Amino acid sequence: MAVPTRDRAAALDAFVAGGAGSLLWMNSHPRLAFADTPNGGATRGDFGIGLECPTRAEAGVVVFDVDSFVSECRASLGERRPQLAIRELVERAVAAPGAIDDAIGGPTKGGFQTLHRSPELTVLQFVWPPAVVLFPHDHRMWAAIGIYGGGEDNTFYRRVPDRIEVSGGKRLEAGDVALLGTETIHSVSNPHRQYTAAIHVYGGDYFGTPRSQWDSSGNEEPFDVEAVRRTLAEADARAAEADGRSESGSVAP
Ligand SMILES: [Fe+2]
Repeated sequence: MAVPTRDRAAALDAFVAGGAGSLLWMNSHPRLAFADTPNGGATRGDFGIGLECPTRAEAGVVVFDVDSFVSECRASLGERRPQLAIRELVERAVAAPGAIDDAIGGPTKGGFQTLHRSPELTVLQFVWPPAVVLFPHDHRMWAAIGIYGGGEDNTFYRRVPDRIEVSGGKRLEAGDVALLGTETIHSVSNPHRQYTAAIHVYGGDYFGTPRSQWDSSGNEEPFDVEAVRRTLAEADARAAEADGRSESGSVAP
């Protein structure tokens, strides 16, 4: 059985044909409820079908477990080129977006969630609001960027005397994983009207490594993670306004 499916009729058919678990609805998408899935507080009775819920493993459902994912990434750090092994881990993870949603919540608001931080590895969930544009910045460590919902446009830059200039670009869509090198400078935008969700794995301490960002005039400045938060929050507010919602997510009168 395909779990989860985003097709209501197909989900109902599969359930009635003998599917495991209870069917419920989250964010307008049908999901099956399992005994070990948070389901955003919903319960097995929410869809009015009183079957006993199995665990996800019992039902053969792909599970994203943060601790297991981080452990596998950390185990890969001992390899000669850990970023290649970690790219495969990220590819496997983003192939099951529903499992990630179940583990850490769906992408409903711009921001980032730290799933792991250590001197040699950082794992983040990043959510890009619709139409957000994040200024150019570098990482000074390799990164594996995996998209599991929506898409993002990357613009790449190279250093020239006293400034940076555009050197290329790449669009990533759901299921894509990009490896960025230690010298990469990029800006990121969300070309879609939906939230874009991604898993980022960095080969170092994302928050504790001194690095750079560039302002709209091309001036190089120390990287400021609070500027990232502000950029995301401003885009969130614009998206809410465009949707006729307040920033809390409720529908404006
Ligand atoms: Fe970046």
